[in-house]
Amino acid sequence: MARSKRIDFLAELTKGYDTVLDIGTDHGFVLEQAFTKGYINKGIASDLREKPLNSARENLKDYPVNYVISNGFQSIEEPFDLAIISGMGAYLISEIMDHAPKGNQTYILQANDKIEVLRSYLMTHGFQIIDEYVIHDRFYYVILKVKRGQMHLSDDELLLGPILRNKPEALSYYKKKASQIEKIISNVDPERAEILKNLLKVYKKA
Ligand SMILES: C[S@@+](CC[C@H](N)C(=O)[O-])C[C@H]1O[C@@H](n2cnc3c(N)ncnc32)[C@H](O)[C@@H]1O
Repeated sequence: MARSKRIDFLAELTKGYDTVLDIGTDHGFVLEQAFTKGYINKGIASDLREKPLNSARENLKDYPVNYVISNGFQSIEEPFDLAIISGMGAYLISEIMDHAPKGNQTYILQANDKIEVLRSYLMTHGFQIIDEYVIHDRFYYVILKVKRGQMHLSDDELLLGPILRNKPEALSYYKKKASQIEKIISNVDPERAEILKNLLKVYKKA
């Protein structure tokens, strides 16, 4: 059963991969959808806490899934070719990526906030963005597809996305970001207003 447009979209991105690790799986909805659609052969459902992992066990009981209590990658021993880290903050995802294996794996990262912080982390820690997507599912969600590699992003690219900035569907997302800034800019202290003014300029230019 489809759970949400965001979950469906994340599941779509597993197409063509064999073993998918879902870090912070919670209810296991992304893996559930990926199996329902027949996109993947095997899952590793992982979470920091027992309670969400039990919920994933319930939802994924019909599928070949291993369950691991783990802080990010730290207790993951099985090989995987794709890892998903979604529905968390940019700082937490960055901390988790600090322990990502050194191989050729692909990562799907969806931060709920501060996407520029995550892009900056990736640029300075030997990762390369190979694709970017934005979807609207009540809120806007930006999703990054990442591998190990090198990239250099300008300040504009950190905010807009080096790939997303060339996709027409990003325009309504940038407009929304600009209108959110315009709503709050007159109510913040002058230092913050200056930062927001610069962000606004970038979004408007886009
Ligand atoms: C808001 S849920 C997101 C669930 C799902 N990934 C999604 O996109 O809807 C965040 C989940 O991440 C788990 N989590 C938080 N920090 C974690 C960490 N360091 N390692 C693994 N899981 C973590 C939480 O226990 C929770 O189940």
